[in-house]
Amino acid sequence: MGIAEVSRGDFPPLKKYAYLDSASTGLLPQRTAQAIGRFLSEYFEEGENWDYVLESVVECRKLFARLVGARFEEVATAPNVSTALAVFAYSLGLRQSDNVVVSAHNFPTGIHIWQAARRRGIIGEVRIAEGREDSIESLIDDSTRIVSIDYVSWLTGYTYDLRRLAEVAHRHGALMVSDIFHAAGVIPLDVKKLGLDAAFCGSYKWLNGPPGVAFIYISEELLGEIEPAYMGWMGVSDSVIRRMLDGVPLFDEEFDVRTPQPAPDASRLELGSWSSLSVVGMRESLNYHLSFDQTAKHNHIRELAKYCEEHLRGLGLDIIDVSERLSGTVAFRHPKPRALGELLQKRGVIISARPRLVRISAHFYNNRSDIDRLVDVIAEGLKQGLDVG
Ligand SMILES: Cc1ncc(COP(=O)(O)O)c(C=O)c1O
Repeated sequence: MGIAEVSRGDFPPLKKYAYLDSASTGLLPQRTAQAIGRFLSEYFEEGENWDYVLESVVECRKLFARLVGARFEEVATAPNVSTALAVFAYSLGLRQSDNVVVSAHNFPTGIHIWQAARRRGIIGEVRIAEGREDSIESLIDDSTRIVSIDYVSWLTGYTYDLRRLAEVAHRHGALMVSDIFHAAGVIPLDVKKLGLDAAFCGSYKWLNGPPGVAFIYISEELLGEIEPAYMGWMGVSDSVIRRMLDGVPLFDEEFDVRTPQPAPDASRLELGSWSSLSVVGMRESLNYHLSFDQTAKHNHIRELAKYCEEHLRGLGLDIIDVSERLSGTVAFRHPKPRALGELLQKRGVIISARPRLVRISAHFYNNRSDIDRLVDVIAEGLKQGLDVG
C-alpha cells in the first residue's frame, strides 16, 4: 500500500487531536485493537487460546525479521527493550579488561545496563561519548568489546551513521549493537547492511503495537558466542515452540532437565511465557506496517518533519539540528517545555515536553494540517509571552 491509502479513521485519536507524539507511544491501528479485543473476549468466555499465542509469537518473530532484513532464526522476543538488552549483555562472556562505548544520547536504559555490568565487575569501563560519530569513534580501541549506539536519538531524532561506526568497531574486534526503537517503522531497515551484530527494539512507538513485547536481533555469526546467562523453558532446544514448529505434540514427552541445551537460534535468550495480549496485537501491527511500501512511508514521515522544522524555524524557535533528516522527530530548545506542552494539550495538540526541550514526532498517519495546528498554537503561545528561549 502507498501512504495515500492510510485511513486516518483507523486511528480514532486523530479525529480529536493533532497527535504528534509517536516517539512516546504510537497509536494502535484499528485491526490491532480489534484482534486484542477478540482474543480477550474469547479468553473470558472460553479460556485462553494458547495455541494461537504460540503461533503469534512465531509470527511476530518472522514479521520482525522481514521488517529488519534478518532471518527468523536471528530474532528472539523479550518483554521489553530493557530486559532484551540485559539478557544480551549478561550472555556475552564479557571480561574485566573490556570496555563498552555508548553515547550520552542513548536512551538511559542503554547506558544503565552497562553501568550495572561495570559495578558488578563484569566489564572494566563504560566510555560515554558526548558528541556524535567523531566523538564515539575516538573512544573505541582494541579493548572495546561493544559499541552500543541508539540508531535514532530518542530526544532529537538525530540518526547515527551506524555503518561507519560498525566499520570502526569491527576493525578493533568489537561488536556493533544498536537500539533501533526509533527507527523501526520509520526508516527502511537492513541490519546486515548497517553492519549490526545485534539490535533491540520495542513495540509501542513507531511500530504502533501494544506494550509488552520487544525484539532482539542477533546475527547468525554472533549466535554461537551467546551463552545464556539465564535459561528458561522457552530458551532451550526442546521448547514448546520448537515442538510446535516440528509438528509434535507439546506435552507428550518429558522435558530434559538434566542436560538442557540452549536453543540453536536467537530464542536462546528467551525465558518464559509472553504477554499473550501483546503478541496477538503485535502480530497485527507488524502485518499492518509491512502492508505499506517502506520507502513511501519513510518519505512521507521525512517530508512532514521537514515541513514542521521549516515552520517552527519561521517562528524563531531554536531547532536542534540533526543534519540530514532521516527520522520523524523534530525537537527545539525551550525554557518552559512543560508550560508549552500544557497549552498545546489544551488546544488538542499532543507532543512531548522533555528537559529543556520540546519533541514533536510525526508519523505516517499525520498530515500537514496536524503540523499547521501545532504551529498556530505555538505562535499563539509566543504571542502570550511564552518566550522563544
Ligand atoms: C530508545 C529507547 N529504548 C528503550 C526505551 C524503553 O524501553 P522499555 O521500556 O521497553 O525497556 C525507550 C523508551 O522511551 C526508548 O526511547
